Amino acid sequence: MTQFTWNAEDYERNSSQQRRWARDLIAQLRLRGDEIVLDIGCGDGKVTAEIASLVPHGRVLGIDLSPDMVRRALEGHAPRHPNLCFEVGDASHLRFDGEFTVVFSNATLHWIEDHRPVLSGIARSLRTDGNVLLQMGGKGNAEEVVEVMDEVTALPRWRDYFVDFAFPYGFYQPEEYRAWLEEASLSPIRVELLPKEMVHPGREGLAGWLRTTWMPYLQRVPEAERRELLEAVLDRFLAGHPLDGDGNAHVRMARLEVEAVKTRGS
Ligand SMILES: C[S@@+](CC[C@H](N)C(=O)[O-])C[C@H]1O[C@@H](n2cnc3c(N)ncnc32)[C@H](O)[C@@H]1O
Repeated sequence: MTQFTWNAEDYERNSSQQRRWARDLIAQLRLRGDEIVLDIGCGDGKVTAEIASLVPHGRVLGIDLSPDMVRRALEGHAPRHPNLCFEVGDASHLRFDGEFTVVFSNATLHWIEDHRPVLSGIARSLRTDGNVLLQMGGKGNAEEVVEVMDEVTALPRWRDYFVDFAFPYGFYQPEEYRAWLEEASLSPIRVELLPKEMVHPGREGLAGWLRTTWMPYLQRVPEAERRELLEAVLDRFLAGHPLDGDGNAHVRMARLEVEAVKTRGS
């Protein structure tokens, strides 16, 4: 995958939807307070910090591939939680061995094409009976945005920047995911594709989400032209999916939610 850059501060300001879904996911963990948790793709760290406050007798490590995200997490959250650490790390090359009782991940793993090394790394990182709870974009996620991206980037104004462009996200189905979990010696409890809706405050809110998470498209063009590409995408998306009566933009999403347990050594 082509490299692109996350902007931690911009993401932090424009990720209230991801945070809302993360909170629903955290509630499902039913934490007792002494768990040792790995948060994969912790981003700016605000979600990881919420987990840390729920495990006063445990500890939490957030890892992320983006040094800018880890810097922000370290500055913004680690100082207020003695049981919270962050480090740069790649979900595809986890270096842990039986340290964790819970592995959690929100809105991250669809950035990775091959999930098999991720899942075997998760299995290795967990103690026996350890729990896994993951949510990521699944098959059909943000399909209408993808369609608009494809239409706009095929226009003569943009298409030279998108020669050889490959679909950047791993949006998978429950059936294939179950098989990968079992291959990694993780026992699936629940693997579901959940329809969800993202609600953004107006054109600016939608722009904030696109700017901070659709970099594989936007960062294909030179920086000076990105605003123009973003406006073209916004125009076309909102022409087909107008703001509602309260001025909000709606995007249909499909989230793959995965609950599993490590039942034997792997
Ligand atoms: C949309 S953000 C989600 C952040 C956070 N989990 C949240 O709920 O707000 C996705 C994060 O995944 C990280 N990421 C992408 N690929 C990764 C990988 N291979 N290993 C670790 N983190 C990765 C990105 O750097 C980014 O911070």
